[in-house]
Amino acid sequence: MQPKLSVNIGKLKLKNPVMVASGTFGYAQEFSDFLDLSQLGAIVTKTITLDPRQGNLSPRTCETAAGMLNSIGLENPGIEDFIREKLPLLAKIGLPVIISIASVDDPQELVNLARRLDKIKEVAALELNISCPNLKSQQSTVNSQQKNKKGATMDYRLIAQNPKATYNLVKTVRKVTQKTLITKLSPNVTDITEIAQAAKEAGTAALSLVNTFYGMGIDIKTRKPKLGNIIGGLSGPAIKPIALAMVWEVYRKVKIPIIGMGGIMNVQDALEFIIAGASAVSIGTANFINPRVSIEIIQGLKDYLRKNKIKDINCLIGSLRI
Ligand SMILES: Cc1cc2nc3c(=O)[nH]c(=O)nc-3n(C[C@H](O)[C@H](O)[C@H](O)COP(=O)(O)O)c2cc1C
Repeated sequence: MQPKLSVNIGKLKLKNPVMVASGTFGYAQEFSDFLDLSQLGAIVTKTITLDPRQGNLSPRTCETAAGMLNSIGLENPGIEDFIREKLPLLAKIGLPVIISIASVDDPQELVNLARRLDKIKEVAALELNISCPNLKSQQSTVNSQQKNKKGATMDYRLIAQNPKATYNLVKTVRKVTQKTLITKLSPNVTDITEIAQAAKEAGTAALSLVNTFYGMGIDIKTRKPKLGNIIGGLSGPAIKPIALAMVWEVYRKVKIPIIGMGGIMNVQDALEFIIAGASAVSIGTANFINPRVSIEIIQGLKDYLRKNKIKDINCLIGSLRI
């Protein structure tokens, strides 16, 4: 028996539920020496912004006991270069390409990005990254406020930390594009279900859960922060149980497809997310340890289904027994 692995994320049809998480797989070509990219379920790009960005001060990554910290700060070539240089190669792989987009100074940038990408047929869906913890320059913001280019005072809380801001932005983006919208939420909140519900009401087709957790490290010899930006985002095995609980909570309360991520290192982890309610999973930090891990997880899912005589992976989604 060949078990059925295909899943739907809104209008998006994936041949299997394993995708790669934004920012951990570049623009895919970087990994083409290690695996047959066309075997993946979908590819999510590094987050793209309207203008090119150089990113944060180095060091931008460091290891922790059970994962890593990063403060890349959304380094990317900007939307026009991306469309010209990267998208044609991504499209050739023949998989759904999900473009992760973010605003930096003004939420309107996200709306403009969505409008720009709406007419491009190679784009299968947009992932709205409203949860990047690395945009605030810790060096220059003593208080939590800073002046933007126009001199207006900006509040640097993430959009995904405020249900109203999430609702307003997703709703506005929804109006300018026909593409499937996936909203990526932050775990750095009190109640993620509240934000998830707001995104759903505003018209997102699916949710990506979760982005990284705020974290920092200190070199005790120099007493300097381990990251140039001081605070960054924690990912990897350390966050898995927390991310899993968030997926489960959102699955129970908010009835839209979830792409689960956070510390998925192997097929066992991926299965836990699917059983908790994720329709698909994204592999992030694990790519840095084993670039073939996503393919191994796809094979592991097939083996699990076969061994347990489950014909269709959709029977497993949210099948937690209580
Ligand atoms: C080095 C690095 C860069 C990342 N860059 C992005 C990014 O550009 N956009 C985004 O939405 N998430 C980004 N993330 C977060 C991941 O997509 C993912 O949500 C998070 O790392 C949790 O999954 P993991 O524990 O499997 O890595 C980044 C993570 C890492 C480790």
